[in-house]
Amino acid sequence: MANPGINAGVGGGAKAPSPILDVRGATLQYKTPKHLVTATYKVDFDVYQSDRFVLLGPSGCGKSTLLKAVGGFMQPVEGTIRVRDRVVKAPGPDRMMVFQEFEQLMPWKTILQNVMFPMQATKRFDRGEIRDRALAVLDKVKLSKFIDVYPHMLSGGMKMRVAIARAMAMEPDILLMDEPFAALDALTRRKMQEELLSLWDQTRFTVLFVTHSIEEAIIVGSRILVLSPHPGRVRAELNAERFTHENVDMPEFGLLMKRIHGLLFEESEPVPEPETEAVA
Ligand SMILES: Nc1ncnc2c1ncn2[C@@H]1O[C@H](COP(=O)(O)OP(=O)(O)OP(=O)(O)O)[C@@H](O)[C@H]1O
Ligand SMILES: [Mg+2]
Repeated sequence: MANPGINAGVGGGAKAPSPILDVRGATLQYKTPKHLVTATYKVDFDVYQSDRFVLLGPSGCGKSTLLKAVGGFMQPVEGTIRVRDRVVKAPGPDRMMVFQEFEQLMPWKTILQNVMFPMQATKRFDRGEIRDRALAVLDKVKLSKFIDVYPHMLSGGMKMRVAIARAMAMEPDILLMDEPFAALDALTRRKMQEELLSLWDQTRFTVLFVTHSIEEAIIVGSRILVLSPHPGRVRAELNAERFTHENVDMPEFGLLMKRIHGLLFEESEPVPEPETEAVA
């Protein structure tokens, strides 16, 4: 599965592409009445067009916090987050969050109505073109035959297609997915991963995907950012473009699993600031 994104336009003297998402030195904190919690510390990464970029790290390392900050729901206390060179200050339709288990589909609306809804709600598009846009994107995800049915009549994989189609109809620069398959059994999870990859093959969307499963990161991701335990700092960035379900038994797959395991569990240097400090 080739990823044209990161290398597109590079070589032959062509100008290197600029990233869609540029996270630079992002320190993210929560202020609670008693404590200041540092969730991530000086995190850097870039996401390019058509990347399947995975944030991987143990529970509590700040993956969801990073996604929230990219979504514009919180601001870094240090560093910057830019989408297409614009500093992220608030949520916007250029960054669409696809929620866990795709429960955001409205059961009383048909598939077509579900896909049309955010376009109607945000007034991003002309009234007259919304239906056609929804039909086009549903065709892209191969659901044209199901436009008039309700979500409960679809399989989990098809629901995911609807949820992604709905997000894609808004023409975001990037899709944000926070552990979308975490609650599923192993078999269903695998099916959903395959479904996501085949959809990516057809449409080449750009996605920032959070997981704490090493295997899922390698299968789903084209690039993986490995984060340290709390507070999250960048341990490494790895390329996993060549791996899919078909090569989980290859020695190279096992070696990458091992390498990531080592990176996740090795001792880290202490963060120069206290990770939890009393608020004055
Ligand atoms: N609303 C909040 N208020 C205060 N602290 C928070 C809040 N949300 C998260 N935290 C803290 O920030 C740190 C990072 O949390 P976050 O949810 O980003 O981790 P995560 O990597 O997504 O973990 P998981 O894999 O369990 O989802 C944790 O120490 C957590 O306790
Ligand atoms: Mg989380």
